[in-house]
Amino acid sequence: MSEIYYATSTGPVNIATLKYWGKRDKDLNLPTNSSISVTLDQANLRTLTTASCSSKFDNDQLWINGATYPLDGARSKQVLADLRSLRKEVENENSSLPKIATFPLHIVSENNFPTAAGLASSAAGFAALISAVARLYKLPTDASELSKIARKGSGSACRSLFGGYVAWEMGDLANGEDSKAVQVADKKHWPDMKAAILVVSDMKKDVPSTSGMQLTVHTSDLFQHRIKEVVPKRFIEMKKAIIEKDFPTFAELTMKDSNSFHSVCLDSYPPIFYLNDTSKRIIKLINLLNESAGKIIAAYTFDAGPNAVIYYEEKNEKYVLGLLHQFFSHLGGWESSSFDPKNAVIPESFPLSSLDKDIYSQGVSRVILTQVGEGPSETDDVLINLQTGLPK
Ligand code: DP6
Repeated sequence: MSEIYYATSTGPVNIATLKYWGKRDKDLNLPTNSSISVTLDQANLRTLTTASCSSKFDNDQLWINGATYPLDGARSKQVLADLRSLRKEVENENSSLPKIATFPLHIVSENNFPTAAGLASSAAGFAALISAVARLYKLPTDASELSKIARKGSGSACRSLFGGYVAWEMGDLANGEDSKAVQVADKKHWPDMKAAILVVSDMKKDVPSTSGMQLTVHTSDLFQHRIKEVVPKRFIEMKKAIIEKDFPTFAELTMKDSNSFHSVCLDSYPPIFYLNDTSKRIIKLINLLNESAGKIIAAYTFDAGPNAVIYYEEKNEKYVLGLLHQFFSHLGGWESSSFDPKNAVIPESFPLSSLDKDIYSQGVSRVILTQVGEGPSETDDVLINLQTGLPK
């Protein structure tokens, strides 16, 4: 019976604080601007992936949470082709290694968060897949090298190859070899960064990010200002704020960049709307909180959908979670955190009584309380049945 080779790895979710929006090369997935993100804790949000290969498998196959997904899209094919060609180099250099580069792959993934939550899972998925195959193939590449492969799968995925605070440097080479993720600072550098995710229920179907950003690139005048004037400066300022652990600056830049990204979406023709009324009320709550606290203690950011991610420092948890608990205590998600509502503090000047609690509590379906986390890690879990080569 032919042998099954396998390896397992995890991949984290990242949420950008300086947004990637726009491609200068669609095939190589090269961005029009550099971006920055925070990697989130895998205890709450992660993909676990076993990559396996064998001469007895018929074709490349992927399962996510038990369901099969095609691997014949251009992006997935490119990712697997890049990994195989690196394996071939390794095999050519060391003739004692088994020749597995051409074997079909069976890839089995599990997400520890509900897919229905509408959280971008492709970044965690590609990071876990690439890390698992790199381990299976014993590739000598570092995380920045692997990030270039992840980038071709989904741009934002390249940042999930690292933990902590991560920059995707846009690069300027036509072949994309310098468009890669690098770590700005690890989790330990600024470990008290927390994130509260408010999952916003939405029936509408969003414009997928790939086509949304193409529309923006081709139709928005404001977009040119964003990529030429706004983001390059912000990229430097945000990295500095992270290195200096300067939360107010980091937070202000994060909120302004979310606003800027959603502005170029609105400036696209026809316009793209990702924020809904619930998102806008959350923006208002955070602004009122910062105003009444007398300093910036929380930052909202929104990706290509209505879900809010709110960054804050642990020392201000009593204010930030204290406020969110006022409106969203009825939702699931609080039990996973150590936050005790008895410690909640609402700043005196917060205009709580002037907000309609019924309206402000609507539209959110779940709270996820998490924090900055680590990058992909190898594990001994095995998600495939080593007799059949199918998911366990
Ligand atoms: C708004 O990485 O999903 O989340 O490269 O086409 O797969 P593709 O796009 P994707 O876009 C993410 C856009 C964003 C901002 C960000 O994560 O930086």
